[in-house]
Amino acid sequence: MAKVLVITGTVSPIEKSYSIALTKSFVKAYIASHPDDELIELDLNTAPMASKTLTRTNQTEYWNEQDAMEYINQLKEVQKVIISSPMNNFNVSGLIKNYLDHILLANQTFSYKYSKKGDAIGLLDHLKVQILTTQGAPFGWYPFGDHTAFLKGTWEFVGAKVCEPILFAGTKVAPIMQMSPDEAVATIADKITKAAKDF
Ligand SMILES: Cc1cc2nc3c(=O)[nH]c(=O)nc-3n(C[C@H](O)[C@H](O)[C@H](O)COP(=O)(O)O)c2cc1C
Repeated sequence: MAKVLVITGTVSPIEKSYSIALTKSFVKAYIASHPDDELIELDLNTAPMASKTLTRTNQTEYWNEQDAMEYINQLKEVQKVIISSPMNNFNVSGLIKNYLDHILLANQTFSYKYSKKGDAIGLLDHLKVQILTTQGAPFGWYPFGDHTAFLKGTWEFVGAKVCEPILFAGTKVAPIMQMSPDEAVATIADKITKAAKDF
């Protein structure tokens, strides 16, 4: 029985959120094919650490027990992570960025100690990760902003095996903008079901 951490990081109202609809659809399909697994939900809106930005004044206490170690330990105790993020200003949401800033801690989730020059060693190599992303524009409109690739590279940096991300792009353009999040996500139901089964 695997423990699966489901991280969501949108600031949109739940019922209007495409990334939440995508996550719910993936989780539903996942449970159907992995009925014995335990799912742990982490909505970053409810985690105070995800609202804390690293600054000069909080640097010394930023990676404290409650804000950082608790979440790093959580990652060490689960086998899989499903993480969803919308694109906000060409990147992941601030909630997701603050979460990553807390868990990307040297000698806890990665290490330079025993590596060849310049290469880091990921310490979360037990993890399998599924990335679920959304963005208002079709893919490629902003070549300088690829939050999906950023997330993939970041999880690979800590040693995780990252499955092919699912990006739901173009939520702000027709025809998707005329659909509810559930209707929109239903258009890629087969892709979601297959990815969830294989995860
Ligand atoms: C503050 C904010 C910034 C956004 N920035 C971008 C952006 O840079 N590029 C883009 O394509 N869409 C952008 N969007 C649109 C969202 O990515 C899009 O609506 C997405 O579906 C939101 O996912 P959600 O419904 O889960 O919040 C932005 C939305 C918000 C609220």
